[in-house]
Amino acid sequence: MVRMVLDSVVRNVKVQLPAYLKRLPVPESITRFARLTVSEWLRLLPFLGVLALLGYLAVRPFLPKEKQQKDSLINLKIQKENPKVVNEINIEDLCLTKAVYCRCWRSKMFPVCDWSHNKHNELTGDNVGPLILKKKEV
Ligand code: FES
Repeated sequence: MVRMVLDSVVRNVKVQLPAYLKRLPVPESITRFARLTVSEWLRLLPFLGVLALLGYLAVRPFLPKEKQQKDSLINLKIQKENPKVVNEINIEDLCLTKAVYCRCWRSKMFPVCDWSHNKHNELTGDNVGPLILKKKEV
């Protein structure tokens, strides 16, 4: 079985590949590419595609990699059983002159800020802080 596969690979590399390459309508200069017919372009297309793929694979290790975010999740532990955490507060229910709500998702009293953002900012170098709602005193 292995022998048959190997024979097939050898035949393809030594006989069929050179024959295929010989039949390709590769122009002798860059300017002659413009004179190729549509059918010649269509015959060249798979070959150019393979060349482009090989070129990309050769260059890929040197391309800049996308920075991976270490901490891509914002909410690490609050109500994880819910598909979306939504808090609703009626303005009429704000009885204090000032209410402080968490925006860092680290508060143990979420949605109310417990100043956990300070520790988060110290540890990560982040700069998050709460949303403070103030009532005008009339
Ligand atoms: Fe989250 Fe203060 S604890 S903003």
